[in-house]
Amino acid sequence: MARLHLLAMAVSLAVLAWPASCKSARSVLAPVTKDPATRLYTIPFHYGANIVVDTAGPLVWSTCAPDHLPAAFPCKSDTCRLANKYHAPSCTESAADKLCDHSHKVCKAFPYNPVTGACAAGDLIHTRFVANTTDGKNPVSQVNVRAVAACAPSKLLESLPQGASGVAGLAGSDLALPAQVASAQKVSNKFLLCLPRGLSADPGVAVFGGGPLHFMAQPERDYTKELAYTPLVAKKGNPAHYITIKSIAVESARVPVPAQALATGGAVLCTRSPFTLLRSDVFLPLVDAFTKALAKQGAQGGPVAKAVKPYAPFQLCYDRRTLANTRIGYLVPAVTLTLGGGKNWTMDGLSLMVDMGPTTACLAFVQMQGVKGGDGSAPSVLIGGFQMENTVLEFDMKKKKRLGFARLPSFTQCSHFNFTTRSA
Ligand SMILES: *[C@@H]1O[C@H](CO)[C@@H](O)[C@H](O)[C@H]1NC(C)=O
Ligand SMILES: *[C@@H]1O[C@H](CO)[C@@H](O)[C@H](O)[C@H]1NC(C)=O
Ligand SMILES: *[C@@H]1O[C@H](CO)[C@@H](O)[C@H](O)[C@H]1NC(C)=O
Repeated sequence: MARLHLLAMAVSLAVLAWPASCKSARSVLAPVTKDPATRLYTIPFHYGANIVVDTAGPLVWSTCAPDHLPAAFPCKSDTCRLANKYHAPSCTESAADKLCDHSHKVCKAFPYNPVTGACAAGDLIHTRFVANTTDGKNPVSQVNVRAVAACAPSKLLESLPQGASGVAGLAGSDLALPAQVASAQKVSNKFLLCLPRGLSADPGVAVFGGGPLHFMAQPERDYTKELAYTPLVAKKGNPAHYITIKSIAVESARVPVPAQALATGGAVLCTRSPFTLLRSDVFLPLVDAFTKALAKQGAQGGPVAKAVKPYAPFQLCYDRRTLANTRIGYLVPAVTLTLGGGKNWTMDGLSLMVDMGPTTACLAFVQMQGVKGGDGSAPSVLIGGFQMENTVLEFDMKKKKRLGFARLPSFTQCSHFNFTTRSA
């Protein structure tokens, strides 16, 4: 009798203790790997399948088994409506009359490839995102997160990293991965992204549900406490993460970018683009200011940078041997973006210069092709993966609708997250 009583007490204590001990570990962790060939980033989805991270993507999609069971999502269901709320501009197949598979009255979704822009019709299915929860320092325990994904034909994988089987859309839409993890795990609709430079095999990290976030070099330091914030700006008909750039400076001298160049279109964070793309009316004045500031460094006794033949897609390249190399990359003029709300996002040599070939380093900004100034619907700045690397980014879509950012100090990197489970 006494034993039974003790047992009952132990059970009820365990039940009481359970909510507290689990509460801090419901955020979901994913290692983020950079593919050297495409410079895109992938996360594991389940059982060996990797999917490409697309911060501007509205859906999760993958190639499904040919015999997959289409979940019965009727054409008129809420899920079907959400899956078809945003279509890629190229997606001409997605006319309203095609949303239904007419013979079965089941929903069709229209996943698209973020690199080629190709789009295809596919069923919506129930699937699972298999990952670990985290306390922000280590993985804690494995979870199966229920998710709705669209199926796509394998031809939609063209130009994606070898071995990738789909795309994880991380935009602000209801069927993007962050919102799905939020509802399944009862965490906030926000995520942390820390993209690796990819020079080592160690992955960077994504945390769905939010921080804290610690790295091995200083295990007590929580980088989510050091973020600067700028508002995320809602755009009609587009769930991607937009921010406002108020002005751009090179070595604290303001670049004469026409005011309306930054005001129209805004800036969007886009992992599908390996490097930052700038519309001509932003690109040309910035390159001019950068060239002059670098020449001035030389004239003031620094090394004299020797310009060399450009290396496509870049326009400004230098002989690496004529650039001073420091802890923060090549010693080049810093570029500062002053964001909405007044905080500065400063980029140093590590974020500005990319090595292309054995003797060449290029300014890692690319001029947008075929986009003229004044087209208010297209963003004037697409912040690409290279410029986001080794920076902790917090995308908060739920309440605050803001982007947090913090450049990691030079002694640590996004690939320094501790992926070893703490032994109980
Ligand atoms: C969870 O973490 C453990 C320990 O690092 C690892 O072995 C396992 O593969 C992880 N599981 C998933 C699904 O990532
Ligand atoms: C942001 O950068 C600009 C240009 O370098 C500078 O003038 C301004 O004082 C900075 N603002 C803050 C808050 O640091
Ligand atoms: C990683 O975390 C594990 C578990 O807490 C710990 O034993 C190990 O020392 C950590 N590794 C490093 C390099 O800090």
